[in-house]
Amino acid sequence: MTRDAKRVAVIAGDGIGPEVTAEAVRVLERVRETHGVALELQHFDWGAERFLRDGVTLPEGALEMLTRDFDAILAGAFGDPRVPSNKHAEDILLGMRRGLDLYINQRPVRLLDARLTPLSGREVGEIDFVVFRENTEGAYCGAGGFLKKGTSDEIATQEELNTRRGVERIIVAAFEYARAHGRRRVTMADKSNVQRFGGDLWQRVFREVAARYAEIEANHQYVDAMTMFMVLDPAQYDVIVTNNLFGDILTDLGAALQGGLGVAASGNIHPGRVSLFEPVHGSAPLLAGKSEANPTGAILTVAMMLEYLGHDAAGASIEQAVGDSIQHHETTRDLGGALSTVEAGAAIRRRIKAESRA
Ligand code: NAD
Ligand code: IPM
Ligand code: MN
Repeated sequence: MTRDAKRVAVIAGDGIGPEVTAEAVRVLERVRETHGVALELQHFDWGAERFLRDGVTLPEGALEMLTRDFDAILAGAFGDPRVPSNKHAEDILLGMRRGLDLYINQRPVRLLDARLTPLSGREVGEIDFVVFRENTEGAYCGAGGFLKKGTSDEIATQEELNTRRGVERIIVAAFEYARAHGRRRVTMADKSNVQRFGGDLWQRVFREVAARYAEIEANHQYVDAMTMFMVLDPAQYDVIVTNNLFGDILTDLGAALQGGLGVAASGNIHPGRVSLFEPVHGSAPLLAGKSEANPTGAILTVAMMLEYLGHDAAGASIEQAVGDSIQHHETTRDLGGALSTVEAGAAIRRRIKAESRA
């Protein structure tokens, strides 16, 4: 059976980005053999190095090109101490999230092995939820400014944008996911006791949308309480929906619950359109170049990407292989093992089983 090749843009980026992305790409090469997944990859050099060389961040016409020529984008990480303003990362990463209208940031939190969580006495099934982070507005809208900058009377404003359309579509996405995946509860996190206007909009839209999904329990928690409950009782969560900034913060905590930033995966999605997949972690400059970074987050990210592209069996095999490698202690140091980035990638690859042919 042959399938149409899907086209994937690969942007390895900065720091540990290229190291973990190389392992993720090798996994894609492996599933080409094991599952007949047809992919065409094209690499792009966008990142700090390019920016420092010629001042280009997200090249002109990039968004149109990605929309026209690609089905998915695989990114490593962006951030470099030589660019303290973080301008290139903002232009490239936030530029793609906003410019491609990737309004869903889907970040699973799933414990693959009880040894990995810092919480004591937790079994794997007790930490298994998905965060739906609004990904195009909120505190990330870039609105604000300075008055009297540099004086002792300086004022900095930083605005947060919540549109009816933006709030509704992320909440709908969370409920749709819950319905499609047999999840029984959607929990919305906000800070509506203080952020009265945006919070009020989120509250109203949440109640309205929840009423359309009678079979799914809908509940609400203030985000500060949620950070506590995520540690004390993570088993209560199935699907969490929240705004851009709270989603960013909650998913680093979520990453820690499942073994650290080295294992957390994410998708920046607009259903039906070219979507961007990247590990949750950043460029970890202190780890870069040492082959110590954990490639698992990037590898689980390609599993998500393959599922998005319709290659469910290949995605599931990768997830299985990651779980098997962890059970056999074939991991990098952050997970208690002794392997390099390249060795850990190879260990996972080896365990990807060929698709059984009926
Ligand atoms: P970071 O995620 O890069 O690192 C935080 C900590 O997690 C570090 O101690 C690091 O050692 C550990 N870690 C991260 N990834 C790991 C991996 N794969 N294996 C093992 N350990 C890992 O976050 P930071 O230090 O706050 O940020 C560094 C730079 O990355 C900054 O410039 C930041 O803006 C950027 N950043 C980029 C993204 C992205 O591109 N998506 C995400 C987060 C941070
Ligand atoms: C993430 C990162 C980004 C964010 C940064 C690098 C802009 O922390 O993807 O979680 O805040 O969204
Ligand atoms: Mn983050």
